[in-house]
This record gives sequence, structure tokens and C-alpha cells, in this order.
Amino acid sequence: KRPGTMYEAIGGAEAIDKIVNGLYKRIGSHPDLIPIFPEDLTETAKKQRYFLTQFFGGPKLYNAYRGQPMLRRRHLPFEITPTRKDAWLSCLAGALEEADIAEPYRSAIFEKLTMTAHHMMNTPE
Ligand code: HEM
Repeated sequence: KRPGTMYEAIGGAEAIDKIVNGLYKRIGSHPDLIPIFPEDLTETAKKQRYFLTQFFGGPKLYNAYRGQPMLRRRHLPFEITPTRKDAWLSCLAGALEEADIAEPYRSAIFEKLTMTAHHMMNTPE
């Protein structure tokens, strides 16, 4: 764990676990998102846990497990509309709140992932 990273600042693996658990709990019951996600979100959540760990400066778990993220490309098989982007971000906002991530980190994480989410859109309404 390198000091000075977002990963370290929010509390490392424990904080990432809480965010990811809250995120997929919400995704799994969101009417706009259910149609494109697998029923069993265990593996999806694990990949996200690995991705967010490295995205926020922790160990490079995603690269070790899956190689280069290329996230836009990996999302192309799914129709990601503006509505689904907003739905995903509302799930994230709830998860950050439930995980009790402190400011200014909560807003910084939300803003960074808002940009990433915009980048994933690939289908008009
Ligand atoms: C995978 C939807 C945004 C990170 C997936 C999958 C779907 C999906 C349907 C495939 C699930 C599976 O088959 O296991 C969406 C939607 C988004 C969104 C609707 C709204 C914009 C994001 C963002 C990130 C992200 C912002 C990054 C923080 C990932 C990762 C995977 C994934 C890491 C697993 C990729 C892999 O290794 O196969 N997403 N996603 N997604 N998503 Fe998203």
C-alpha cells in the first residue's frame, strides 16, 4: 500500500469491499440495470473490487487477474444508454453513502467515476 493514494486515504481493502458490496446490491435490484447484468453478480463484483483497488492506487489486482482493463471495449456488448449510466451512478452514490466514505474523498470518487461512466456509454436512448 503506497501512502498518499485514494486507496490508502479511504481505508484500503475494507473500504473498497464496502463500496463494491453496496454497489452490486443496488445494481442487482435496479430495474434499468437488471436486464444487462448476470443474475449472479459474484464474479462481476470481484472484478470490480479488483479494478477499483488498482484505480485508486492500491495493488494492481485487476491487471493480474484480467490484463489491461480496456473498460470501454469490455462494455461494448452491453447497451449502455444515458439512463443506464445515470442508474449506475445512483447506485454508486448510495453505496458511497452506505460505506460512510468521508469527504472530500466521497465527492472525489464520485466525480472520477462519473467521468468513467460517461466513457462507457455506447447507445443512444
Ligand atoms: C462489467 C455495466 C460503468 C467497471 C460490466 C458488465 C456490465 C456493466 C453489464 C458485465 C458484467 C458481467 O458480465 O460480469 C455497466 C453500466 C455502467 C458501467 C451499465 C454505466 C455507465 C462502469 C464503470 C466502471 C465499470 C464506471 C469502472 C469504475 C466494470 C468492470 C467490469 C464491468 C471492472 C468487469 C470487466 C471484466 O473484467 O470483464 N459493467 N458498467 N463499469 N464493469 Fe461496468
